[in-house]
Amino acid sequence: MSTVKIAIITGANSGIGYGVAQRLLDHSTKNSNEQFKIVLACRNKTRATDAQNALLKEFPGGLVEIVLVDLSSVKCVFECCKEVKKRFSRIDLIFCNAGILPCSYIDWWVIAKQLVFSPTALLSRTDALVQPVGITTTEDLGETFACNVFGHYVMIRELENLLIKTKDSRIIWTSSCTATKEHFNSEDYQAIKSNVPYEASKRMTDLISIKLNSRLNKHDIYSFTTHPGVAATNIVRDHLGWVMGYGMQIGFYAARTFLGMRNQTVTNWNGSYSNYHVATQPIDLLKNDYVKKFCSYCNRFGEAYVDTDDIEGYNEVEAEVLVNKLDKLLDEFRVKYNNKS
Ligand SMILES: NC(=O)c1ccc[n+]([C@@H]2O[C@H](COP(=O)([O-])OP(=O)(O)OC[C@H]3O[C@@H](n4cnc5c(N)ncnc54)[C@H](OP(=O)(O)O)[C@@H]3O)[C@@H](O)[C@H]2O)c1
Repeated sequence: MSTVKIAIITGANSGIGYGVAQRLLDHSTKNSNEQFKIVLACRNKTRATDAQNALLKEFPGGLVEIVLVDLSSVKCVFECCKEVKKRFSRIDLIFCNAGILPCSYIDWWVIAKQLVFSPTALLSRTDALVQPVGITTTEDLGETFACNVFGHYVMIRELENLLIKTKDSRIIWTSSCTATKEHFNSEDYQAIKSNVPYEASKRMTDLISIKLNSRLNKHDIYSFTTHPGVAATNIVRDHLGWVMGYGMQIGFYAARTFLGMRNQTVTNWNGSYSNYHVATQPIDLLKNDYVKKFCSYCNRFGEAYVDTDDIEGYNEVEAEVLVNKLDKLLDEFRVKYNNKS
């Protein structure tokens, strides 16, 4: 019998999130016994509707809905979750994918140095984008933390009861290979003082995913973390402008073809492969790898595949402390907004 799985994808109107929606709809057309209903969780109604229309044009008859949410606002996430609970009695998948990489300016000196001494770093890292320090939301949270981490955490905790209703439900975090342990400071867990709040947010993503997995396993809920490789999406292109953005994309293709750099996935479709893989593989093939990161890679000819990488220096105590802080913060917001989950 065919089951329709409900998949919420944050930031699904562009980039990797859009690629995940395409892949799940493509999967639905090819597997009559496993259908997906896609819920595009986006902050902008016009962009969300454009994405919905484009998906339905590519996959006529596909099941695609929209729910509006600004993940940087806890109030908004609470409202979104109320709406989701009204519409659905269960959920199979939450893709915690939306993300920002704020940039104050481009450091041309870094670009010049990397061009000469380490062109591969230039094509894989974001060192040249200088991130602003100390930006907070109207709710006094670190902005990147709020959007990339806490908004998703609130969503998961609010929707936990719907995830419990399905067997092998999955939480899938789009992380990054730049999420290394030195970027996270437990004392400044909202990364307000950090000059790399993006990298800190992705490190937190990895810690939270592993911790949530062990907490939620008893309910048959699994949490995984992924890396999309290096894809030419808006998250960096918006800071570079049209000309540099396309120059970057050509550089990615060249690096993959001529240097064999397997992390250069370049397109949404290839970049989203690891998320799709984790969403659709039998859980028995995945569940022992929850302490690893599922990464999208490509060969020289642009064929995507998935491999796992270690999450360096995972520290159980550090993860526990972080998740406890998030729970405490969530409780404060529940009181503030009189939100009964
Ligand atoms: N591209 C890469 O090479 C790469 C590498 C490593 C990790 N990642 C991760 O992949 C994820 C997706 O990014 P992308 O590369 O696909 O970039 P993207 O095209 O810019 O997608 C980001 C998505 O997040 C949404 N978003 C941002 N802030 C939001 C908020 N406050 N509330 C709700 N939605 C919000 C954006 O919506 P709007 O369109 O409204 O702005 C957009 O849909 C991110 O978590 C990113 O860190 C990407």
